[in-house]
Amino acid sequence: MKLIAANWKMNKTQREAEEYVSKFLPLVKDVTKTEILLCPPFTSLCKVSQMLEGSNVKLGAQNCHSEKKGAFTGEISTVMLKDLGVEYVIVGHSERRWIFGESDEIIHKKIVACLEEGLRPILCVGERWEDREAGMTFKVIETQIKLALSGLDAFVSKIDIAYEPVWAIGTGNPATPEDAQLVHRFIKDLVGPVRVLYGGSVNTSNAGDFLRMPDVDGLLVGTASLDPESFFQIIQASE
Ligand code: G3P
Repeated sequence: MKLIAANWKMNKTQREAEEYVSKFLPLVKDVTKTEILLCPPFTSLCKVSQMLEGSNVKLGAQNCHSEKKGAFTGEISTVMLKDLGVEYVIVGHSERRWIFGESDEIIHKKIVACLEEGLRPILCVGERWEDREAGMTFKVIETQIKLALSGLDAFVSKIDIAYEPVWAIGTGNPATPEDAQLVHRFIKDLVGPVRVLYGGSVNTSNAGDFLRMPDVDGLLVGTASLDPESFFQIIQASE
């Protein structure tokens, strides 16, 4: 089944999240052929989790820590996320890699922590513009995936991968569906049968073009997921 996921990033107060979900749930109630995921900020997880109970929408977190508990001020563990009804965790988003300095080693540990807790990690990978210009796209993707999934071959069916070219994120300049298709195929040839989502300036007009590609198994949507109507239209493109 295709997965259409909303990454709200650092947006929406608890009240705004509540308003969103009350508008969103009636819109998507008849969606049956697509898995729908909302990833609000940590501060709204509890409220959104309660509201999603019994619905066809799943809950995800945008990050986690790699240890289960202890002296890690400001961090949130996979145990805590599981306790809130979270099923998915976005791991290694480029904003975590490039703004917060997350290494491939840390990302690997977070993936292991998710799997140990029965949470489904969405591993984000993607090249920067300079990598693409240097013809390094496939090499960068391969390295990120090999390091993140090292020793985890047996768990590939419990992981999703999101291809998010860094230069396409929040820029209004998406990859072409054909370029995304090439990278998605490359990832599947490298890893095996894994669900691969595309992310980076997905909107209501281009979602269908991505989803028509044979190896685009879903979308990870930032900006366009912040409005419930727009996100619903993107989901409809997958139905
Ligand atoms: O995780 C989704 C994201 O990085 C894409 O953001 O705003 O380009 O849809 P946006």
